[in-house]
Amino acid sequence: MQAIVLVGGEGTRLRPLTYGTPKPMVPIANVPFLARTMERLYEAGIRDVILPAGYLPQAIVDYFGDGSKLDMNITYVIEDEPLGTAGALKNVEQHVTGPFFVLNGDVLTSLDLRAMMAFHKEKGGLGALHLIKVEDPSAFGCIVHDDDLRISAFVEKPAKGTEPTDEVNAGTYLFDRAVLDMIPAGRNVSIERETFPKILAEGHALYAYTTSDYWIDLGRPEHYLAAHRDILSGAMPLRLEPGLTGNGAAGARGTILPPVHIDANVTIAATATVGPNVVLAEGCTIGERATVRGSVLWDGVQVGDGASIDETIIASRARIGAGATIKRGSVIGHDAIVPPGAVLEENARYGEPPK
Ligand code: GDD
Ligand code: MG
Repeated sequence: MQAIVLVGGEGTRLRPLTYGTPKPMVPIANVPFLARTMERLYEAGIRDVILPAGYLPQAIVDYFGDGSKLDMNITYVIEDEPLGTAGALKNVEQHVTGPFFVLNGDVLTSLDLRAMMAFHKEKGGLGALHLIKVEDPSAFGCIVHDDDLRISAFVEKPAKGTEPTDEVNAGTYLFDRAVLDMIPAGRNVSIERETFPKILAEGHALYAYTTSDYWIDLGRPEHYLAAHRDILSGAMPLRLEPGLTGNGAAGARGTILPPVHIDANVTIAATATVGPNVVLAEGCTIGERATVRGSVLWDGVQVGDGASIDETIIASRARIGAGATIKRGSVIGHDAIVPPGAVLEENARYGEPPK
């Protein structure tokens, strides 16, 4: 079995983080998100992975190489222009040898891929789609099916109040190779808006595999922070023990309010307060009397004396000046410098696109 992981999106909703890091390489508790996905594929017995990429692909290639370190085989296909979620599949057709999984590259889930294979085998048809029930279906692709689980309609991102169901496309598909015949070549094609409706219109069967697994689309800052809260609390099983974890946890000073994850070479001043729900990646420094709550700091972030940081994501090597206040929902980009005493209001975006 092969898997295609869609990793070509620009991650616009995660800017300025994604100015410097493509969405699949955004770290989850210090490990690039895509590495977590690779682990899940490996556990399901999948060794052959195709990555249609296009936005900052070199960061992905540099980290994973040909996959041999993971005992996997990775094929990269770089798009000059974004081809869309189906166009990207058509563009890798020559590498696909049989039935295959497709994964949206920004979904964190505990879905059991082997169980989904068994479901597809039992149901037949051209493919099976993973569905999940959510509170606000309008942000996703709604999928309607009958009692036999056969899908009858797709409605991508319906207006609020017009959702036909609370079951949404969870971004994992298992397809027979024939699905590729339904996608036109050489142009941008959306699987959600064009290919799924076409498959149904031509009378082919797709089946809905609804589960109650942990599931979150990391594409928005608030979801990225929520995912970390769930990992730190153990709600999303990720082989992290709840409490105080990480290579730097043992030597941490200051007031630590678990759950907190601290990586190697982190320095926390004795009078600083860190937690709850904080991840500090390698090499972070937290100054005297500084407070960090509900936040994820990537590697090498420096927080000055007396600074206060609440529910914020801070990308690599950013520096927060002494006495600065960063209010909840903010996102700070790579190498950004927040001046001493500055106040960033709620949901601030701080960081420039690279020149
Ligand atoms: N190679 C490639 N080329 N990948 C792409 C392209 C492209 O042109 N466009 C998007 N992708 C990748 C993104 O990187 C992401 O991993 C995945 O395709 C889905 O794109 P998003 O931009 O994250 O879509 P979404 O979150 O708004 O909606 C999709 O996911 C939802 C579940 O998370 C849809 O599939 C919805 O129906 C679904 O509910
Ligand atoms: Mg998404």
